[in-house]
Amino acid sequence: MIVLGIETSCDDAAIGIVENGKTILAHAVSSQGDFHAQYKGVYPEMAARLHVDTLLPTIEAALSAASLTPKSIDLIAVTKGPGLIGSLLAGLSAAKTLHLAWNTPFIGVNHVEAHLYAAMLSSKTEIFPSLGVVISGGHTFLVKIDAIGSYQLLGTTVDDAIGEAFDKVATLLGLPYPGGPHIEALAKKGNPNRFPFRAGRVKGRRLDFSFSGLKTNVLYTIKGQNLHLKEAVELTDQDKADVAASFQEVALSDIVEKTVLAADSFPCEAIYLGGGASQNLRLRELFQERSCQMPVYWPEPELCLDNGVMIAGLGFHVFKGVSDLLTLEAEPRLPIPSTVSSPL
Ligand code: KG4
Ligand code: ZN
Repeated sequence: MIVLGIETSCDDAAIGIVENGKTILAHAVSSQGDFHAQYKGVYPEMAARLHVDTLLPTIEAALSAASLTPKSIDLIAVTKGPGLIGSLLAGLSAAKTLHLAWNTPFIGVNHVEAHLYAAMLSSKTEIFPSLGVVISGGHTFLVKIDAIGSYQLLGTTVDDAIGEAFDKVATLLGLPYPGGPHIEALAKKGNPNRFPFRAGRVKGRRLDFSFSGLKTNVLYTIKGQNLHLKEAVELTDQDKADVAASFQEVALSDIVEKTVLAADSFPCEAIYLGGGASQNLRLRELFQERSCQMPVYWPEPELCLDNGVMIAGLGFHVFKGVSDLLTLEAEPRLPIPSTVSSPL
């Protein structure tokens, strides 16, 4: 079965074409990164408008890269949520239109569930029960995975997502948006032990995350404690690198510690990571240093960020032979499927 995946939950219009949930035939992305960089964040209304302009050319580019015509597409999978409402609507409208024009079934899939599937794409079989770790610009959570489509929420952030914290600290350091890769690059030149930052703890919820205190720590370090006096501390390039390294080390170590704790809380057989921050190579090193006892699966680097391949791949598993209806709605706050909160 050949599935065309459409992803427009945020600022990238991404198309993937995947055969039988595993073989990537095309991976095309129309990135709006440069446009939103001027606002140091995503400008939602413009993201939706730009998707309208770029979606069809990106679909054509993907079909042409795979040397396929619309006739070869057996299913259209599209992100139905969570995400920005205008962006989601652009992708959903395209999917519904192509469903009618090509006479091809379509289904809506869950964006964050697809981030986890990105790490499952490259192996022949999936391993359950396993732990899923989504670390992106909009989400940070740990789930027990019983099967594709069946998850149990173990921990989540009570404030900022990890990628959002990287983006905010990058802005404080005068780095471009999105900040994750810039912080990672700068941190390579810095001393991770220079500043005693601390990641947040959530009372009574040992697997939950909190990054807003850490961000404030960084803010005070950069601007000085007397913010109201506007006495900004002059930071040298080395100071900035040390801030980036100290912040990154603490934030990523927090992810590793809580991941290991969560994996120990049930008979876990594997760990799957996904989302933009899973691209960070220091995070991969930290997992190795922690000598995690079970296999840890990462998406291919180009599949860590938002992409249509993960949507097409997951769509293959979600499709039960029946198309969704044209009344399918975008769900900006769609939770991961079959989620029940754990008592941990
Ligand atoms: O998964 P994604 O493309 O979009 C969402 O679904 O949110 O993730 C984008 C986020 C941004 O916040 C970006 O700064 C972060 O992932 N990111 C990183 C790295 N590369 C991207 N964070 C840390 N280290 C990186 N190397
Ligand atoms: Zn995403």
